[in-house]
Amino acid sequence: METHEARLRATELRHAIARHNDLYYRQDAPEISDAEYDALMRELADLEARFPDIATPDSPTKIVGARPSEKFEKFTHALPMLSLANAMNAGELREFDARVRRQLDWGSETPIDYVAELKIDGLAVELAYENRRLVAGSTRGDGTIGELITRNLLTIAAIPRELPSDAPDLLDVRGEVYIRKSDFAAMNARREEEGEPTFANPRNAAAGSLRQLDPAVTASRPLAIFLYGIGRTGDLRLDSHEDWLRRLSAWGFPVNPERRLCRGIDEAVEYYESIPSIRGDLPFDIDGVVGKVNRLDLQERLGILSRSPRWAIAAKFPAQQVQTVVEAIDIQVGRTGALTPVARLTPVAVGGVTVSNASLHNQDEIDRLDVRVGDTVVIQRAGDVIPEVVSVVTESRPSEAVPFSIPDSISHHCPVCGSEIVRLPDEVAWRCVGSACPAKRIESLCHFASKNAMNIDGLGEKLIRQVVERGVVQSPADIYRLTREQWAGLDRMADKSAENLLAAIAATKSTTLRRFIFALGIRHVGEATAKALADAFGSIHAVMDATTEQLAFVPDIGPIVAASIRGWFEDPGNRQLVLDLLALGIAPAWEKTRTVGRLAGKTMVLTGTLASMDRGEAKQRLEALGATVAGSVSRKTSVVVAGESAGSKLDKARELGIEIWDEERLLREIGSE
Ligand code: IVH
Repeated sequence: METHEARLRATELRHAIARHNDLYYRQDAPEISDAEYDALMRELADLEARFPDIATPDSPTKIVGARPSEKFEKFTHALPMLSLANAMNAGELREFDARVRRQLDWGSETPIDYVAELKIDGLAVELAYENRRLVAGSTRGDGTIGELITRNLLTIAAIPRELPSDAPDLLDVRGEVYIRKSDFAAMNARREEEGEPTFANPRNAAAGSLRQLDPAVTASRPLAIFLYGIGRTGDLRLDSHEDWLRRLSAWGFPVNPERRLCRGIDEAVEYYESIPSIRGDLPFDIDGVVGKVNRLDLQERLGILSRSPRWAIAAKFPAQQVQTVVEAIDIQVGRTGALTPVARLTPVAVGGVTVSNASLHNQDEIDRLDVRVGDTVVIQRAGDVIPEVVSVVTESRPSEAVPFSIPDSISHHCPVCGSEIVRLPDEVAWRCVGSACPAKRIESLCHFASKNAMNIDGLGEKLIRQVVERGVVQSPADIYRLTREQWAGLDRMADKSAENLLAAIAATKSTTLRRFIFALGIRHVGEATAKALADAFGSIHAVMDATTEQLAFVPDIGPIVAASIRGWFEDPGNRQLVLDLLALGIAPAWEKTRTVGRLAGKTMVLTGTLASMDRGEAKQRLEALGATVAGSVSRKTSVVVAGESAGSKLDKARELGIEIWDEERLLREIGSE
């Protein structure tokens, strides 16, 4: 790989990671599994290690988590709350031990003591005690600044409000808030009954519950906590991590008793390897084992990297595998008409969830696995979400099982609308060609309304299915045509919800051009391409009328994508759809984005003291986004960033009528990149 390729890929990875951080930490709605996230992070870290030139100061490999949400007051941790480096298997755990020894110049004979703990899958928090009274509770946030959620944490009865007299004057304790599996199941069942949305997993439920503006809501959720670490400790010094855990427990903090003090890495590996077999029986979800150097003097000598301590490691588990039987292979029809084979499985528990379906993706994958109806297969849940078929146990194959062919299984016709199906020479997927196929219709409407497209709040698959099946909605334009009465007439739709939905639909009329283009669902036009088109053409009419050559001139758009876009807009039905949407009042606005970096072209001046970073870091981060940072204010200055006790520069900026940002605004501007 060449440096410029590495740089491109790293930029892509950083964008993806930033988005997933936001989804996970701020919206409590992750879209990918932890394993997939870890893979992105690793790929980026590897690239940055191989090509040191491409590293940037604001790379997610150097920053913990995401910036705190704006809905809570901010809380600056006295000592940063760090993250952990990962090991994916026993070998990597041993490499961690080797690194520790090397750094400590440790002989090969003496083992190092590690505390092996369970890595609880919840939300990291800090409890700050002053004079043995709880004064603040906060989330980790970006590691430096978190959200102040004291009142919410106080709803957890197990958290001591006061500490015994032998506790130090100053004490920060860290731990993980979580929800037990059984409480989670009961809570979701209740929500389901009451028609409220259910949570995807206990972690999201815990995070969502803790970050409620109304503590009464938090109080109604079954939150629990384990403490596993410390921040400031006043004048108290202990020798080891294990001593601290015992002390915390003695002071009344819930500390997980399931841990082992290991003499050497062999014992730690043994512990790590013993956990998967009891994982399913644990009352809470875990996502690994944490190994920590026990002696605090050694921890201190090892120190920290920018993101994580050198003295600790999170050892993740390999994907859990189980065997089950393929009872049938069904064909689903997607938005673009692509036919996806789905294996219907004899239900089986994998890592706490029951799996009864797994996508087989396409004919090539079926051929590669040679999976047949009746086969016993090995399935795994990689990370936490998507189950996949890993292999076929051919010894268990019934004699009558025959190779599976998508077209033969559906007699060469779409299983939903009966239209012809085709497989283009350069494609893996079979597709339904029926333009009125209801399955395609439902999928494209779901895409149109989805979060990253038009973002119609409250319009999900269930409602879309109903309106399509009743024949009142055929195209996205119909969504804007339905009346309040029509919405209110749907199942499980109260008057109030219909009103909210109408308001949500109306709100999407002032959408952005890139969302609008993405929402159209043109093949090969994902979010990035939609943005590139918006930036290149500036209006939907210009995109509609662009020639294939003009389209192919846009950065990142090649001939295939250009032809797909052109082809889409040449279809009279599609053109009419766009015109209908515009006539219904949708006015996609072009948000101009600059060519290099969001702040390119801006001359900025920093003045006063910032609480969250020093001026050097602020300068670096602004420059990374394309801004020029100058030392003095003049008419050419675009923005003055004013921290605490800003003086004459701020006065001058006011005098000249220059835009002024406070620290919060600065963080918002640089944080979301
Ligand atoms: S120690 C400096 N111990 O995992 C060490 N973390 O990926 C900081 N976690 O932010 C963490 N159980 O939210 C530690 N027994 C445990 C843990 C644990 C869960 C979480 C915690 C942390 C994240 C790091």
